[in-house]
Amino acid sequence: MAIIYDQESRVFHLQSKNTSYAFQILKQGYPAHIYWGKKVRGLQLNRLLQIKERASFSPNPDQNQLDLSLDALPQEYPSYGATDFRSPAYQVKLPNGSTILELTYHSHEIYSGKKKLEGLPAVYVESESEAQTLELTLKDDLTGLTAVLSYTVFENHDAITRSVKFINNGEMTLDLQRALSMSVDFAHDRFEMLQLSGAWARERYVHKRKLVPGMQSVESRRGSSSHMQNPFLALLSEGATEDHGDVYGVNLVYSGSFIAGVEVDQYHSSRLFIGINPFDFNWRLEAGEQFQTPEAVMVFSPDGLGGMSRIYHELYRTRLVRGEFRDKTRPILVNNWEATYFDFNADKIEAIATAGKELGIEMFVLDDGWFGKRNNDTTSLGDWFVDKNKLPNGLEDLVARVKRLDMQFGLWFEPEMISPESELYKAHPDWCLHVEGRRRSQGRNQLILDFSRQDVRDYIVKTVSDILSSAPITYVKWDMNRNMTEIGSALLPADRQRETAHRYMLGLYEVLETITTSFPHILFESCSGGGGRFDPGMLYYMPQTWTSDNTDAVSRLKIQYGTSIVYPISTMGAHVSAIPNHQVGRKASLETRGNVALSGNFGYELDLTVFTDEEKEAVKKQVALYKEVRPLVQFGDFYRLLSPFEGNETAWMFVSKDKSEAFVVYVSVLQEANAKLDRLRLKGLDPNFDYVLDGEEGAYGGDELMNAGIQAPLFHGDYSSKVFRFRAVK
Ligand code: DGJ
Repeated sequence: MAIIYDQESRVFHLQSKNTSYAFQILKQGYPAHIYWGKKVRGLQLNRLLQIKERASFSPNPDQNQLDLSLDALPQEYPSYGATDFRSPAYQVKLPNGSTILELTYHSHEIYSGKKKLEGLPAVYVESESEAQTLELTLKDDLTGLTAVLSYTVFENHDAITRSVKFINNGEMTLDLQRALSMSVDFAHDRFEMLQLSGAWARERYVHKRKLVPGMQSVESRRGSSSHMQNPFLALLSEGATEDHGDVYGVNLVYSGSFIAGVEVDQYHSSRLFIGINPFDFNWRLEAGEQFQTPEAVMVFSPDGLGGMSRIYHELYRTRLVRGEFRDKTRPILVNNWEATYFDFNADKIEAIATAGKELGIEMFVLDDGWFGKRNNDTTSLGDWFVDKNKLPNGLEDLVARVKRLDMQFGLWFEPEMISPESELYKAHPDWCLHVEGRRRSQGRNQLILDFSRQDVRDYIVKTVSDILSSAPITYVKWDMNRNMTEIGSALLPADRQRETAHRYMLGLYEVLETITTSFPHILFESCSGGGGRFDPGMLYYMPQTWTSDNTDAVSRLKIQYGTSIVYPISTMGAHVSAIPNHQVGRKASLETRGNVALSGNFGYELDLTVFTDEEKEAVKKQVALYKEVRPLVQFGDFYRLLSPFEGNETAWMFVSKDKSEAFVVYVSVLQEANAKLDRLRLKGLDPNFDYVLDGEEGAYGGDELMNAGIQAPLFHGDYSSKVFRFRAVK
């Protein structure tokens, strides 16, 4: 790892273990992008930068250099309106109404380590030797606005993080209308763009398309990263596959509205960018004020999509997720949501927990419905006081009953919400996001608390903390079940109203920081109607996320496969639920429901008290198996073998870091008569190790398993599956 600056050519060369990233400062001060890809020694990288005179439709910023046009120059942080016509990284409105502004080189600093981002989640280092950072300061002479572009490279991860801090060092009042986190220009457009898109209950499906001239982008305008689009894009070079070829990923460490896109221009170059969505955004910067963008995490891998995923997984698992649970295996839980919905009492809960304990389950989670008068979803959000009708002896008593079983206890909250039918709303009708004189649109009968307000945040921190201090709770599910409408805050002046959505995110992050650090022994899982906020921003505060409200095993193949493109397995909640499945009505076997859920943070979400002895025996075995493979699943390397987006079979596997153990999951959705006799090739093993397969005599060579493969199982019956455990013999 190194950041090298060549004084003479003014080239910056950022090197991680296997990656190079380079740009040059032109004599006019423009930072021109040169290269991002596999590591090169980089003797004279500036030879790659071609500057060529273009037609008059690409005008010139410097009359002394008529071959230079920003419209044709690959750039690091481009502007609009001063000869570049492509999509810019920033736009600023001046008091005279103009939006022309040009940031050029002012100074730079290279240092060991990585600074925290003020008020925002970000990848971190534990010692200065783990990373090097370049801060490149650009300045607009007319306004005095400076932008500090931060680039960090890591010793142990082939990732580069980028973010930008705007500082109004001038006298004028400025409006930041667009402030992306990164932008990079590739010299060609021979890429496929991969995005993770979907909807509630079918999150993060993999979609690929070949780049075409013009703009292709994904975005959220929902005030959260959303079920519909994930703040991630990858560019796959021609012919790149799961295992081979150059892949570039960008992911935004942010949980609010974002944009990510690629613009292919007239010269076939591709501009890739990601950041806060400029749509409906404006940030007033008075003289002396600053604005920090979220962080973008950029990953290059020459080893296909799988290689890129493993870089993200390792980085996020070890240097995004924080706290004591980062390196701890996560408990197997049983959650009562799909078992009881709102209809439960203390005895019912204790009965489910008791049944779980007998089967080896380690934690009980009490979901929605324990507070206020919450017998359905029309009421009580904001009234975080125990419902004595359901739990007459209080939460403390229930927790004690579960604890007596030697089980941990977890609790559900939805702290960002307020029901119009609640004591809180009666007392504070202006505490929700709203616009004076306009309707307050409800979603699931609820409104959103205005987390941009300090008084609202203080109330939530206090009420949630009081509950968490009232009993030995060791897990919290932090839910959020609607998107923002009528986005406005009662406390902000007119010219700052468009700051509300981002101020909400900053407020949310402040609350999460306060609560998670005050309760370091509680494991937090974020949730937004399942995976509506499955993003690195939330993972910084909460090491795991409820992947989807869709608990059907077949649906989960696509959801978990798509999620694994970026996010580590240890961040994904996956539960076995009842059949017919509550979301799709499918009846997958208990074995297959288990095998799919085993590929995440495992748990059950059904009424275990109604299980037959045979079913209980099967659950006992699943739980015991998970306990054995848990370190491998949660902390091993993940390899995708067969994609549910490409065929009837899905397979993936987990390999321990020392390659001595592997766990393979294979699922076949629909059966065909007289089916093919297929083979399944494994990945990530040591070719020189010999492995034995549980339940079989004799050994397989690692090379044999990866090149020749194993016999793919043949099934009778739809939604069938099988798992394989391999152990190296010395
Ligand atoms: C949505 C979550 O995703 C579910 O798991 C459950 O907690 C419900 N909310 C409760 O209202």
